[in-house]
Formats: sequence, structure tokens, C-alpha cells
Amino acid sequence: MKMSATNESAASIQADAVVVGCHADGELQPAAATIDQATSGAISRLLEAKEMTGKAGELTRIFVPAGVAAMQVVVVGLGDRGKLDRRAAFQAAAAAAKLLAAKPRTHVAFYLNDNWDPDLVEAAVCGAMAGCQGQDLYRAEKKLSPFQQISWAATGEEALAVGQTLGEAVGLTRRLVNEPANMIYPESFANAAADVATNCGLELEIWDEKKLKAERCGSLLAVAQGSTRPPRLVILRHNGGQKGDAPLALVGKGVTFDSGGLSIKPSDGMKTMKCDMAGAATVVGAMQAIAKLRLPVNVIGLVGLTENMINGDAVKLGDVLTARSGKTIEVLNTDAEGRLVLADVLDVAVEQGAAKIVDLATLTGACLVALGMDVAGLMTNDQAWCDELSAAAQLCGEAAWQLPMFPEFGEQIASKVADIKNIGEGRWGGAITAAKFLEEFVQGKPWVHIDIAGPAFLDSPKPWLDAGGSGAFVRTLVELAKGWRG
Ligand code: BES
Ligand code: MN
Ligand code: ZN
Repeated sequence: MKMSATNESAASIQADAVVVGCHADGELQPAAATIDQATSGAISRLLEAKEMTGKAGELTRIFVPAGVAAMQVVVVGLGDRGKLDRRAAFQAAAAAAKLLAAKPRTHVAFYLNDNWDPDLVEAAVCGAMAGCQGQDLYRAEKKLSPFQQISWAATGEEALAVGQTLGEAVGLTRRLVNEPANMIYPESFANAAADVATNCGLELEIWDEKKLKAERCGSLLAVAQGSTRPPRLVILRHNGGQKGDAPLALVGKGVTFDSGGLSIKPSDGMKTMKCDMAGAATVVGAMQAIAKLRLPVNVIGLVGLTENMINGDAVKLGDVLTARSGKTIEVLNTDAEGRLVLADVLDVAVEQGAAKIVDLATLTGACLVALGMDVAGLMTNDQAWCDELSAAAQLCGEAAWQLPMFPEFGEQIASKVADIKNIGEGRWGGAITAAKFLEEFVQGKPWVHIDIAGPAFLDSPKPWLDAGGSGAFVRTLVELAKGWRG
């Protein structure tokens, strides 16, 4: 998508559509006022008649307005002026884009910016790109068509470029999640990560099965042993900081398909399990943006890639594994595989010298029960680090809520035959017992676990985003990396 800044007036720009904003106070944004004047008061009359209110997300279309060069004007509600944040900017631009992308359109001009700070423009640009990306990768006739060209008014090229970089990163994550499991499996995911590394100058390391064995990744390998597709571990390094400065580590769960293994999932629970690599896709998307933005920090992305399948070699209930750290794990549910994968990847992250760690994983259905579909769960061993992550998420408008890590939850994963077992006692607090398991492998390093089982994958579309992969938390990770001080 070609993206450029424009100084043209909203009334005279040659575009298929012009998008302007309207706050709930009814006071017109400069571009809306221009359109209002050109149309002898079309917008103020709609407001007066309460056909339009400026409520957040409201979309009003004015077709072939006399006095305006564009074929249509879309007025998008921006809500309360005082509450305009990145979330509102992202969603407003995305909603307008999604509406307009319903038909192929060559050129759409966004006139939302009203003296916005660059971070709001960036969020809106990212939103405009996200709004026209659909999940229908394999449908001959797409429901959404990205515009060939976007013009953006009243902003510099810098904010546009940053917004576009974020938009591309979110788009990459969403596409990887939306790809079915016959297309994206450990090797092909690793190839996709390698392409990203080549294109944006990340250092790349790929561990194949042989290397994983040599590195004693017994926990990850146990999940992979029931599949004919071999596992991978990918390490991406962005060396933007001082040589020798300890890096931030971003760790992702990359289960490219989760059948549940011998503790097999019912069909209903299995049908969206191509999304179980969303944590890994989020890490790759964020690493791409961090590299392209040339952030002056050291960051490593590590993703553990495997299928969770069933064949004659599959891991069985009661099996005892030795993780890379040396801890032994009794497997009492093969569907609690994400934590087995992460156990080894977290261990590698610590060994690589990470000063602090964030992991992202579609880890538990229990987190969905606790927080619903739109909110990620945060669990940590270090409150200050978690607060930093919460602040970044809040700034980006991505919903996350902390769950407690009381020691009692940890007692539930004690095993009678091994150091720990991979499930708690019963299902209650399942998001937390899973996090307690992960905590065993971070060697006390400051660590936050983000359970994205809810927000990573939308079962139904939002007015501003198609269903499927959402790209949630890519922007939060980039924001966190921006503030990284070692
Ligand atoms: N990948 C699933 C979690 C999941 C569920 C993600 C729904 C997205 C939507 C995970 O591997 C899993 O199966 N977790 C089990 C854990 C249980 C066996 C302790 C679960 O949540 O049921
Ligand atoms: Mn599972
Ligand atoms: Zn899983």
C-alpha cells in the first residue's frame, strides 16, 4: 500500500473517498469543517438532526457530495475529545478503512489528524492498514481489498513511516496466524522468520531437530515426537544497543497446530487451533518492527515451533521428561503442551543472557474463562517489570489484566514422581497454575507471561477488524522495547 502525506484540501483532493473525523461534542475537525463548507452544511445538518453524533466508531457516508472532488465522504465518530487515545485513533481509522475496503478502491484520503501527536497518527495509520486486511487468504473473491494508495493529511512523513512499519508488523502477525496449519508448520514458520530476518537485518539462528537434541530440549521435543513434522527453535537478534548490554528477550509459543495429543480436544475446541502459534507470530511481528525502526536497544526473539499431534511415538500420560534445565516433568495432560514448549525456550532465553523476559502464549482456555475474549492475562515474578509492561499496553490501547501468583497455586504442580507435573489439581485457576509452571524455568529473571488465548484470535469480526488473527500485543512489545533500559 502506497502511503503519502498530502497538503490538498479535503474538498479538492482527487480520491475515491475522503475520511474525516467528528468528536462527540459536535465541534468539527478542521477537515470536517472544510467539507461542511464545501457542501453548504451537509455535516452540520446531519449533526443537528442527530443523524450523526460523533460517538466513537460511528460511520456516516455521504455519497457524491456536491462541491467535493471525492466520490464519497466518510465521517467517523471519534468519541469524547478528551478521551482520544491510540486505541480510539486506531479503531476509528480501522473502522473507516474496513467499510471502504468492502470494494476495490484505488485511493483513500484520511483527514482525521487534528493537531494529533505523532503517536496518535501512527496508531491511526496502523489501524487504516489493519482495517483492510481480511482473513480470507484462500478465497478467490476477497471480502476486503486494500487500497492502492493512502493519503494522509496534516502530518509529516516520519509519523507515516512509523505507522506503516507498525501496520506491516501487525499485518505479518495476523497473516501468519490466519495461515492454516497445512501451510504454516514449524519448518515453514521458521522459513518465514528467516525471510523477515533477511529483509530487515536481524541476526538469525535456527535450531533443527538434531540441534534441539544436542541442546537437550527434552520438553519441547516430547511435544514434537507425536508429529511427522519436525520441530524448530528460532532465535532472532536485534543488536541496536551497545555491544555487551544485556538484551530484552521476547519468547513466543509456536504450536502450529494443537490437536491436544492423546488428551485429544473435541472438534469444536480443535477447529481454530491453527492459532496456537500466535505468541510466536507476535514475537516475529514485533522483531520486524523493532529492526525496521532501528530501536537503539538489544532485543532477542525466541520462538519454539512444533505441532501437538498423535502418532505411535506421541508422548503419553504419565511419561516423565527431562527439560533442558534438568528439571523432570510428569506429563498428566498432553493438551497442556504450550508450557512444555516454553519450558525449554525460556531456559534458552536465560542462557542467551536475557536481562528481562516477556513471553506470549495462547496458553490456557482458563484465561478466557477468567478475562473473556478481549483481555490478555498478565502473570509475573517481578511487579515493577509487570507494571512497565502494563503501562506499555495501556498506552497502545491493548487490554491486559494482571492475575495473582500466590504461592498456593505453585503447590498444585508438585508431582509424586518428578520435580513437577504439567497440570494443576483440577481446572480452577488454570491460567495461573500454567504460569507457575513457566516460572520454574526463568531462573528468577524478571519475567512477565502474557496469556493471549483470548485476544490473539477473534471468533467473530469487530467493526474495525476482520475475524481471525488480531495482531494483539505486537504494538505493546514495540512500545516496551522503545523504553528498554536494560
Ligand atoms: N492452546 C490451548 C489453549 C487455548 C484454548 C488457546 C482456547 C486458545 C483458545 C492450550 O494448549 C490448552 O489446550 N490448554 C489446556 C490446558 C489444560 C489441559 C490444563 C486448556 O486450557 O484446556
Ligand atoms: Mn493444548
Ligand atoms: Zn496449545
